This record gives sequence, structure tokens and C-alpha cells, in this order.
Amino acid sequence: MESLEVLCNQACALVKEVGAFIRQEASVFDWNHIEYKSSDHDLVSFVDKESEKRLVKGLESLFPQAGFMGEEGANSAGENGYQWVIDPLDGTTNFMHGMPTYSISVALLQHEQVLIGIVYEINRAELFYAWKNGGAYCNGKRLQVSRATALKDSLFVTGFPYSMRGKANQYFEILKEIVNHSHGLRRLGSAAVDLAYVAAGRFEAYFEYNLNRWDVAGGILLVTEAGGKLSDYDGGENFLDGKQIVASNGTIHEPLLSMIQKHWNA
Ligand code: IPD
Ligand code: CA
Ligand code: CA
Repeated sequence: MESLEVLCNQACALVKEVGAFIRQEASVFDWNHIEYKSSDHDLVSFVDKESEKRLVKGLESLFPQAGFMGEEGANSAGENGYQWVIDPLDGTTNFMHGMPTYSISVALLQHEQVLIGIVYEINRAELFYAWKNGGAYCNGKRLQVSRATALKDSLFVTGFPYSMRGKANQYFEILKEIVNHSHGLRRLGSAAVDLAYVAAGRFEAYFEYNLNRWDVAGGILLVTEAGGKLSDYDGGENFLDGKQIVASNGTIHEPLLSMIQKHWNA
């Protein structure tokens, strides 16, 4: 393998290229080309699938030893535990409704460790990337999480999962309390962008549940390399596949966890 930094830069160039394809497709998007996945809310289009195809092809030639896990079906084991984890279009519902926030999320993992994380917010042409121990960047500028120290000075972001699995009421109790004790709460519609914005200091914290590995793998290294903190709702480390994630600037992590735990019954 090239150095992580070189591989990260090469993967970034590919992600931008595929992002340009998605941007172009958005201008000619046709509702007849959508399908429903598991539920009435879980949408997928030709664009999601074609984006994954292009990413897999490009990444394969950059680092042939790595396998793949992609939301649209890519699945292969690599050598030495190397695997690319891909969400080829994060924010599909936004994309289909003509809302501007959607992204590509790509991560290189070795076993359970994220070595490279890339999130490209397509319409703002903001490329967020990090490699392990190398820092996190957006379009060449080093990222640093926010310095806010209190919940009351913080802006939050969350997501509403496609399936609430009977937890909607508990979740809304958490949201109510946050709205009453902070600068507010946003729902952008792309988990990868949410994580990137915590890394960039735009949000103090992000939390969601019922996500998959491909939603968060690209963004979590951005947060840690920008000085932030990640956990599950119990404060543990099970956030990659654990279906619960809290990402913050670090200083407000514990008070936010207490607020979540007050209302959350696993
Ligand atoms: C979705 C987005 C959204 C989150 C959903 C995800 P998709 O991914 O990340 O923000 O709330 O739970 O599934 O389906 O657009 O790739
Ligand atoms: Ca996703
Ligand atoms: Ca997706």
C-alpha cells in the first residue's frame, strides 16, 4: 500500500469524480427510476447503484488487496482485514426530493479500525477527509471541533431512522429536552454530513440510532481526528455497528449522554 495519506488523496479524487456524476444526474432525475427497499421510506435509485459501481471499480484499482462492503450490495473480503466501506449516496431521500444535502461516504477499515474516512458533500463541493493520525481536513483546511462547553450554547443534529422500532416516543422525549436546553436541533438527512459537520465545529453534537456501518464509517474518523469524541448511548465503544451513535466535541459529551440516558430504554 502507498502511505495512508497518498491513498486518501487518490480516493478523494475518485470520490469527487463520482460526486460530479451524481450532481449531473440530480439535474435530470426521474421518479420513475426509484425502487423501495425494505420499507416505504427506504428508497434507492439507479444513481445509488451506479455510484457504488464506479467507486468499487476505482478503489479496486487503487488498492487491490482490500475487499468491499457497500450499501447497494458490494461484499467481499480483503487481504489482512482491509475493507472499503461505502455508502454511494447518503441522503437518497433528499436527492430524490431535490433537497440539496447528500453525500458520498467512503472508509478504509483494517479489521475494526478506520484508517481513512472521506465524506463528500456534493452540492457544496465540500470534501472532508482524514487518515489515521494525520488530522481531518475540508478542502485542504485542517478541521477542529467546536470549543463550546455547555449544552445551552450548543447546536445539535440528529436523524429519524426509517424504522423507529417502537422507540419513537422515547426519542421524541430526548429531542424535546434538547430543543428546550440548547441553540436548537437540525435534521439534515445525511448521517455522513452530520458527522462531518461535527468535525468542522458547525454542530457541537450528533446522535442517531438504527444506522448501518456504511452510514457512519466515513465520518467517524473525521470526528476523532478533529479532536471530538464518539460513543454509543451507554458511553461504550459499540458505535460502528451498534445502532446507536453519539458524536460530539468532547466537552459536551457526558451531559448529552446523561440527557439521552434519562429517556432511553434499550
Ligand atoms: C440515511 C441518511 C439519513 C439517516 C438514515 C440513513 P441513506 O441514509 O443517512 O440521514 O437518518 O437513517 O439511512 O438511506 O440516504 O443512504
Ligand atoms: Ca446512508
Ligand atoms: Ca445510501
